[in-house]
Amino acid sequence: MCGIIGFCGSLPASEVLLAGLKQLEYRGYDSAGIAVLSENGIRMEKAIGNVSRLEEKLGTESFSGNCGIGHTRWATHGGVSEENAHPHHSGRVTLIHNGIIENYKEIWEKYGVGRTLVSQTDSEIAAVLFDSLYEEGKPEEAIWKAVSILEGSYAFCILFEDIPDTIYCIRKVSPLVAARVKEGSFVASDVTALIAYTQEYFVLPEDTILVLKKEEMYLENQGNQVKPELLHVNWDTTAAQKNGYPHYMIKEIHEQPEALHNTITPRMKDGIPDFEVDKIPDDIFKNIHQVKIVACGTAMHAGLVGKVLMEKRVRIPVTVEIASEFRYQNPIIDNRTLVIVISQSGETIDTLASLRLAKSEGAYTLAIVNVKGSTIARESDYVFYTHAGPEIAVASTKAYTVQLAAMVLLAVRMAYVRGIREIEKIKQDYEALKQASEAVHASLALEEEIKELTYALTEKEDLFFIGRGIDYALSCEGSIKLKEISYIHSEAYAAGELKHGTISLITEGVPVIAIATQKEVYAKMISNIREVKARGALVILITQKDTPVESSLYDYHLTVPELPDEFTPIPAAVILQLIAYYTSVHKGLNVDQPRNLAKSVTVE
Ligand code: AGP
Repeated sequence: MCGIIGFCGSLPASEVLLAGLKQLEYRGYDSAGIAVLSENGIRMEKAIGNVSRLEEKLGTESFSGNCGIGHTRWATHGGVSEENAHPHHSGRVTLIHNGIIENYKEIWEKYGVGRTLVSQTDSEIAAVLFDSLYEEGKPEEAIWKAVSILEGSYAFCILFEDIPDTIYCIRKVSPLVAARVKEGSFVASDVTALIAYTQEYFVLPEDTILVLKKEEMYLENQGNQVKPELLHVNWDTTAAQKNGYPHYMIKEIHEQPEALHNTITPRMKDGIPDFEVDKIPDDIFKNIHQVKIVACGTAMHAGLVGKVLMEKRVRIPVTVEIASEFRYQNPIIDNRTLVIVISQSGETIDTLASLRLAKSEGAYTLAIVNVKGSTIARESDYVFYTHAGPEIAVASTKAYTVQLAAMVLLAVRMAYVRGIREIEKIKQDYEALKQASEAVHASLALEEEIKELTYALTEKEDLFFIGRGIDYALSCEGSIKLKEISYIHSEAYAAGELKHGTISLITEGVPVIAIATQKEVYAKMISNIREVKARGALVILITQKDTPVESSLYDYHLTVPELPDEFTPIPAAVILQLIAYYTSVHKGLNVDQPRNLAKSVTVE
């Protein structure tokens, strides 16, 4: 939920920190701040708004000093204000924090005596705790004592004013990665802030202190040195840049053909899905009697599509669970359950907690994750990495379509392993997946037409998505995409359900995006479209190409190439993404960093 960066080395810290924070801004952008440690002590500056506001405030005065920490915030405890911006300072301690301290009240009652708080944040109380426990020259001791008291999630970077040119870090649940490069030592919330310097990094193990110095960096756990496990990311610096696009989101929408190719190709062998490269054994598919797909937001919507695909092929119950609900439901899972968690970031805390619950109940766990080495990837029994590259826009696009591809591959492999689908059909599925990926180009070719038609939506306050079967699952994704970046209220509805209440909201000019790509229920969809059209709806109809439809039933008609029914969500999703994107652009909104949101929800 927040972006953290720390640097100790040969470069001016303030410049390195600001550049890193800009790469991390998608993680939260309510406010930002830096603190730089030099022979003159610690200097700190903060500003409300995004990192460029902080840069303006700093002006040409870049703090002297080559060791510092920086933070870009998504508000949890305490509103958006300069006082609540990080870094936070107490006595000899200055720190930045990502996470939530659950026992901050008890800590304040015990350690806040005689102190005054500047902010309304749990993070400042953590600084009070560290300072209260700190004995000059013994930072590790203070950290071990503090983390034995702290409850909740945290990633801390800490400066002690009497310890020059040194940053101390420790994490629990909230992410931190680090790298040693020729310019010095780096720590950050994720690898996008390091990519300009290196592709080699490591994840800071939980409850291990990382010490960053100009000439060295080391890990220690209660006095024992810990060797980091190095990871390699194959992104280059341009991967996390806009590369000429006006927004990350439209760049990532256009990256989908490549993302799909890179995700599908390594898993195909003689036309049959193959997970040898992922080291996912067939055993986990053979004797299971149920599948639970657990995720949040767009990732959960990918699960909704996956459920339809998987149940049709594997003929065992597949349920889709909202992670923040699943983890408190005492779910019925056992050692013949496969729990598939889906997460682009691999850090979503509700999904992580659900994964841990599933493991504790003895279920097989398989994660579909985009960020290599992320917490969910590391804690799952098995990982299916999507290869979409960095997704910076808060609104998830390419991660969604590669998750759909992953669901197809898993469903088909499961059916193949269980011997309940003929080889010919297995190979047809693969061909259909390839065609669906190719069909994305056709959807991208509709961009200008969609750009024009979305002018009709910009003044609307309510909008409905309707569909049946897999189109209903897809409409859930269309709805969240539109809501989160255009701020237009929208709802996804099973088309057959509309007349049981909600159709009362369909009046003259209310937009209805009708997704009617499923041939087997097309006639029923046409009836539902007639019902809304009869009440004055402005209908944007999405069908497969060459589907017969009376022109009186729609105001706009967009098509995807002819495909087997369950494969239409991949190209159709791109149409919905473009509708959301251009509606937001026409409204002049911040497409990549919509209000109140952040890219990775690492707090509950
Ligand atoms: C998608 O557009 C949203 N930004 C959000 O719903 C996101 O999909 C959700 O927070 C899950 O994130 P994850 O895939 O990183 O776990």
